[in-house]
Amino acid sequence: MTVTTREWELAARPHGEPTPDDFRLVEREHPDPGDGQVVVRMLVMSVDPYMRGRMRGGPSYAAPWEIGETMRGGAVGRVVESRSPAVPEGSLVLTDAAWRDVAVLDGAHVRVLPDLPGIPPSYHLGVLGMPGLTAWAGLFRIAGFTPGDAVFVSGAAGAVGSLVGQFALLDGASMVVGSAGSPEKVAWLTGELGFTAAFDYHDGPVAELLADAAPNGIDVFFDNVGGEHLEAAIGRLKLHGRAAICGSISTYNAVSAPPGPRNLGQLVANRLTLRGFLVGDHTDLREEFIEKASLLLRSGQLVVRETVRDGLEQAVPAFLDLLRGANTGKMIVRLDGDPD
Ligand SMILES: NC(=O)c1ccc[n+]([C@@H]2O[C@H](COP(=O)([O-])OP(=O)(O)OC[C@H]3O[C@@H](n4cnc5c(N)ncnc54)[C@H](OP(=O)(O)O)[C@@H]3O)[C@@H](O)[C@H]2O)c1
Repeated sequence: MTVTTREWELAARPHGEPTPDDFRLVEREHPDPGDGQVVVRMLVMSVDPYMRGRMRGGPSYAAPWEIGETMRGGAVGRVVESRSPAVPEGSLVLTDAAWRDVAVLDGAHVRVLPDLPGIPPSYHLGVLGMPGLTAWAGLFRIAGFTPGDAVFVSGAAGAVGSLVGQFALLDGASMVVGSAGSPEKVAWLTGELGFTAAFDYHDGPVAELLADAAPNGIDVFFDNVGGEHLEAAIGRLKLHGRAAICGSISTYNAVSAPPGPRNLGQLVANRLTLRGFLVGDHTDLREEFIEKASLLLRSGQLVVRETVRDGLEQAVPAFLDLLRGANTGKMIVRLDGDPD
């Protein structure tokens, strides 16, 4: 007997913006699970900006996806068959086996999740998952946020950015400014999320928009975007200001090296600290983070927004749309059905 799955594989390495032709949906047969293995039916999968980097060949902090290989990423699924005593049938599990509907996996490679009332499986890919921990670790550990700090976050209406701003506000920021790519997103930030100010970065030079929004400067910058945003933030950081460099999505499709910030002299003059980080180096914070974020969720203090696409066929359009800013909050692809 075999297990039949549908899987997205990488068909080509993109030059610039990826297109649907760079991906291929295929059917595959896998042997039935052996000792220690489980069959997982995926409920939800994540599409994330870092996946653009996996499409590129060459050295990076993580191995690239190979052409003709099924792509990987975060997904939450239900165990429908188990030959692993540690992972009973029916368990909800976190896997790195997204981009497919069903997977045969080693029980040791999945993490059993609590089936909590009021916590949809998708939250383990967003607010309680990798993006949530990224926001937490970046703000508190990397940027050393302390109550009273004035914070600027770029990519503020996305999965990570929307949480950074909320964590800062809940912990006593003196002000939180966000930038995002549409008037609707800006209205969401200053409305439901309670940001002090926000701007649409299409409306003019970012340095000017930021100067208007934060006339007295900022203590902390959380950067998801890079490029012009980074230069603008360096120009507004106050004495001993700190920046958590989380990502630079404005450069991910670049075909040649983007220009660097022209004002690095400010680092010396204002004794600034710019520190890059990867969430994978901060998993020691996961337990504490999940406990605190779950409390905030249960007490209704944390606003969570998801943009949801339905069906494995929609995984590629969802990913391409994410890179173009079609999401507010976490972009999620809902896959076929929970057997419950
Ligand atoms: N360091 C780490 O360990 C780590 C972990 C997770 C994520 N990250 C990084 O964190 C950032 C946010 O990730 P996420 O998962 O929360 O994604 P996200 O913000 O939910 O989605 C990506 C967003 O990027 C924005 N964007 C796209 N092109 C842009 C451009 N040229 N200029 C400005 N904004 C642009 C779009 O929003 P707009 O409509 O606002 O343009 C889009 O919604 C990314 O840079 C990602 O690589 C890093």
